[in-house]
Amino acid sequence: MKKFFIQTFGCQMNVYDGQRITNMLKINGWQQIEDMRNADLIIINTCAIREKASNKVFSALGRIRDSKKPEAIFGIVGCVARESGADAFRRIPDLNFVLGPQSYHKLLEILKNPDIKLLNIDLGGLEKFDELPQMVKSDTVAYIPVQEGCNHGCTYCIVPFTRGRELSRPFDDIIRDTIHAAATGAIEICFIGQNVNGYKFENYKLSDLIIKTAKLDTIKRIRFTSSYPTEMTDDLIDLFRTEAKLLPLLHLPIQSGSSDVLTRMNRSYSLDLYIEIIDKLRVARPEIKISSDFIVGFPGETDSDFNKTMDIVKKIKYICSYSFKYSPRPRTVAALMTDQIPENVKRERLKTIDSYLNGIQREFNESCIGKTFECLCEGPDRTGKHLLFRTPYMQQCIVEKPSEKILDLVNIKITAANKSSLRGEIVKI
Ligand code: SAH
Ligand code: F3S
Repeated sequence: MKKFFIQTFGCQMNVYDGQRITNMLKINGWQQIEDMRNADLIIINTCAIREKASNKVFSALGRIRDSKKPEAIFGIVGCVARESGADAFRRIPDLNFVLGPQSYHKLLEILKNPDIKLLNIDLGGLEKFDELPQMVKSDTVAYIPVQEGCNHGCTYCIVPFTRGRELSRPFDDIIRDTIHAAATGAIEICFIGQNVNGYKFENYKLSDLIIKTAKLDTIKRIRFTSSYPTEMTDDLIDLFRTEAKLLPLLHLPIQSGSSDVLTRMNRSYSLDLYIEIIDKLRVARPEIKISSDFIVGFPGETDSDFNKTMDIVKKIKYICSYSFKYSPRPRTVAALMTDQIPENVKRERLKTIDSYLNGIQREFNESCIGKTFECLCEGPDRTGKHLLFRTPYMQQCIVEKPSEKILDLVNIKITAANKSSLRGEIVKI
């Protein structure tokens, strides 16, 4: 049996793409292995969102070339493939394939003819969904893409170039994938897309997908990511009131708390509008918690702009967030702005925001001690002595492994907490 190795970087869409590649190769008789040095096929599934992520790919490829089996085929898929195109072959001449995020289903061609150099970075849109073989089995959490690409054109972001403009998948195709996932092991459905709440197919919206999915008996939890603030429409907000299977957590990236910076980022909302959306969500579901992405050191960001970001962090009390130093990306408008912020200032601001965000996260985790949540089992930890669960707020909860078999969803009483995880005990009924 031929062996393959795959390593995935980046967002949930990339994780999904990695699962589809793995599924396609296994169906075609390949075996997945963890040690790259024994593989006959090596795939790096890449992320281009920040410069560091992009550069890391080429240093990793250099190392792979030096340690792989001489006859092994290797290449890249994903956003760096799309970003670098044929240039990747110039940088690493022995590379065998470079396939974009919408053309990786062509991978099998190189396996039939390893002597060619396979380059395909076309924006094929939704073609891959029709060509890839169906997933054999679902994890307990099934990630189901509803759309690809993004039309928002934030001035810092490379995604509209690497994944293209927004395309929503047909409603029936998504429901078919969801039913299949439910029938093959999924308990939780997470709808994904670069702009998931921008989903629009004929008259269907994301709320229609959620309502239909909630009717499936075996699906107990539903969530979606990543959302754009102005597309949090009332129908979607209202579902947090009416649909109990929708988890009480929403990732709603704000990026900056300064309306001036938001304008230069081409984020089409003001701070007031963002706060209004959060207020509506809290009325619909009082226990809802919000997470976010932040960029610090965007060109022209003053101390006062940054302080406004800190103010919003304190006001909203995000329970989990991702913060990044602004990174100039090729072809983006912001990379050409003349008032770039020095690295040391970016670093300081990142440290400040991170320490505050970590503090809120720890506080929230500690506030859960003594409470009981219905949690979803993710399986054993590395030692095999514990089981890992996810609370409805996506916190990881570690529980001593019981001797008896337990269900996938169980009530757990939280007994301890730190910044990154909880500990708990299964509540016996
Ligand atoms: N809506 C998308 C966002 C993709 S990028 C999705 O989640 O599918 C994820 C996050 O990376 C963004 O929200 C932003 O905070 C950050 N990001 C994007 N471009 C960046 C850049 N050039 N520098 C720093 N951070 C960036
Ligand atoms: Fe990027 Fe902005 Fe879209 S962050 S993915 S262009 S919403």
